[in-house]
Amino acid sequence: MKSTKVTVSKKQIHQYPGELLVAFIVQNEEGTPAGAGLLQPLLESLQQYKEFTGKAEEHILLYPPFVPLADGLSCRRLLLIGLGKIQAVADAGERNEAFRVAGGIIAAQCKTHKIEEAGVVLPGLAAAPDAESAEFLAEGILLGDYRFVKYKTRKKDEEDAYLGIKKIELLTDKNTVALRAGIARAESSALAACAARNMANEPANGWTPAHFAEYAENLVARGLKCTVLEKPELAEFGMGGIIAVNQGSETPPKLVILEYEPPGKSAETVLLVGKGLTFDSGGISLKPAQGMMDMKYDMCGGAAVITVMEVIAREKPDIRVVAMVPATDNMAGGGALKPGDVITHYGGLTAEIENTDAEGRLIVADALAYGIEKYQPDCVIDVATLTGAVVVALGHHYAGLLSNNDVLAERILAAGKYCGEPYWRLPMGEVYRKQIKSTIADMKNTGGKHGGAITAAEYLHQFTGKVPWAHLDIAGTAWDFTEKSYIPKGPSGFGVRTLITMLRQWEKGGFPRRNSEAGEKKSN
Ligand code: BES
Ligand code: MN
Ligand code: ZN
Repeated sequence: MKSTKVTVSKKQIHQYPGELLVAFIVQNEEGTPAGAGLLQPLLESLQQYKEFTGKAEEHILLYPPFVPLADGLSCRRLLLIGLGKIQAVADAGERNEAFRVAGGIIAAQCKTHKIEEAGVVLPGLAAAPDAESAEFLAEGILLGDYRFVKYKTRKKDEEDAYLGIKKIELLTDKNTVALRAGIARAESSALAACAARNMANEPANGWTPAHFAEYAENLVARGLKCTVLEKPELAEFGMGGIIAVNQGSETPPKLVILEYEPPGKSAETVLLVGKGLTFDSGGISLKPAQGMMDMKYDMCGGAAVITVMEVIAREKPDIRVVAMVPATDNMAGGGALKPGDVITHYGGLTAEIENTDAEGRLIVADALAYGIEKYQPDCVIDVATLTGAVVVALGHHYAGLLSNNDVLAERILAAGKYCGEPYWRLPMGEVYRKQIKSTIADMKNTGGKHGGAITAAEYLHQFTGKVPWAHLDIAGTAWDFTEKSYIPKGPSGFGVRTLITMLRQWEKGGFPRRNSEAGEKKSN
């Protein structure tokens, strides 16, 4: 994979000799733009024409001679980006997002003009520590500078020749430990999100359950423990959900497990489960042809939890993290699961299959049941492209959050705000659970037309019991996520940075061990 170097440089703004220099313009309370001292005369002349006001996301690319500039610059081009009235923004999440969006604009301009190296003048704002602006600018640049060219053989074509940014120099005289740590965090989270995007961009014939297993096994070298349960073991363990979904397929399923053990033994355990459905044809309840191609993305939850483990292995937080990816495709071969069939999940609960296209909950349920029993986690988070219904409810702008625990739900909402992956919590409860009652089994796998994202969560809830649990339904955000400068078309890597943010800022406590009512939502 291409790697982009982000370095810190003490060069002054007029000393940067490269292809592109980027500087930020903020607005004061009255809306007057201001930037680095040297740029002031230029800003004043731009103001005459009212073409650039410094509003957030506004940008202008200038070429020399930069006439009113007294000192002169040595760069070939100058990109000014507005940050608006960022000085007045008190919310860190909102500021982070402004920097990320600005970073995305830099990546887009580099792409348009095939620029491989750029100098970026850190804005040095009173409202935001330099480490923070550096972190999120770098994150936005790295997330925006993404392309998937693996299957393009004609790379030499004019259009494809540019392979992205090679080097970013952050110009600042404050090269502190905190600043470098911020850049390292940005590199780490962007790399993980881009790795998840790569997995998702792979076609279903290029990314099978075996590829998930292989990727996870490669992380053993980074100090993680990896276990892959193969089809015979899944059957023997009674994981009837995974086996059932896989029945119509020629490609064997896998349950991929990665464990991170922190240095201190007393740490809390977080279990992550990601839906790794490598292609969802719907099975016998076949999906319509139109848009079916997108169902290669149905493994985005699995991609998210596995790439997060890569970051965990690198950053070594003081928390035990276990990630599980139930992986299979959902096909309609001769042996396929049929509507009306009854399956038995890990642990013994039975389900009547009303629709073979509601398969995600079947594979995630087995993983939840097994993972909770085996790892006794303090809390569990599953990430899944689970329902079309969540897209109807929230569109492509928020992911659905469903939880039996207010403390956990609040942490996820906060992490989402901080990292620019927003969640909206949906209700749960007995009234919804009733919709998945079956006349002949413990439950059925669909709950009718209404409240589909919630009834799907209630299905999973049958397997989590009272363990603090949150379900992230990323069906609307895993690809075609809301338009932003640093989000490419196609898969977004959504969920990766939420989990990383949460685990980095892990607050101990909050989930008193087992069966305690603390934090449990009273209405459930
Ligand atoms: N993978 C789909 C959900 C999905 C749909 C994700 C659209 C992204 C975009 C899931 O397996 C599915 O097919 N769900 C069904 C459930 C229904 C049959 C109860 C759905 O949402 O239609
Ligand atoms: Mn489906
Ligand atoms: Zn699916």
